[in-house]
Amino acid sequence: MKIAVIQGPNLNMLGVREQQVYGPMKLEQIHAQMKDFAGQNKLEIEFFQSNLEGEIVDKIQECYGEVDGIIINAAAYTHSSIAIRDAITAVSIPTIEVHISNINRREEFRKENMIAPVCTSSIVGFGPFGYHLAMVGMLQIMSELKAARDMQEQSTQIEK
Ligand code: DQA
Repeated sequence: MKIAVIQGPNLNMLGVREQQVYGPMKLEQIHAQMKDFAGQNKLEIEFFQSNLEGEIVDKIQECYGEVDGIIINAAAYTHSSIAIRDAITAVSIPTIEVHISNINRREEFRKENMIAPVCTSSIVGFGPFGYHLAMVGMLQIMSELKAARDMQEQSTQIEK
């Protein structure tokens, strides 16, 4: 099973940018922890970060047929990008949205969320730990999907 982790603009500046909001951890440290967890749970994982909307759309499209789940922090594009929203809808891959900060408790414009309505679920406000929660959540989603597929297979066999 393969998971893609997609990080939006300015997340490459974690550890430097607004530490009072996002904490001191760097993106590489977050990814290292995710990689460890993936290894322990026999998941393949890949990481992608871009400051450009179109590159994020391209990456989501590339996930089609290649990846079983997406964990995305679209960062500032969360609040504006119909293109990223449409890409998530288009590939129809289980997707968990993560925000390090609690976007619902910040400026008004951060309450606008283009991405959440097309994601399987959202994790906000847990700091970098949210990425770990997203991986646990993804394992749960994957096992529920597998159970549903197995049930479907069994009932087709019975029908035969
Ligand atoms: C963020 C929240 C966004 O509003 C902001 O633009 C970011 C980071 C978060 O992880 O809390 O860049 O997505």
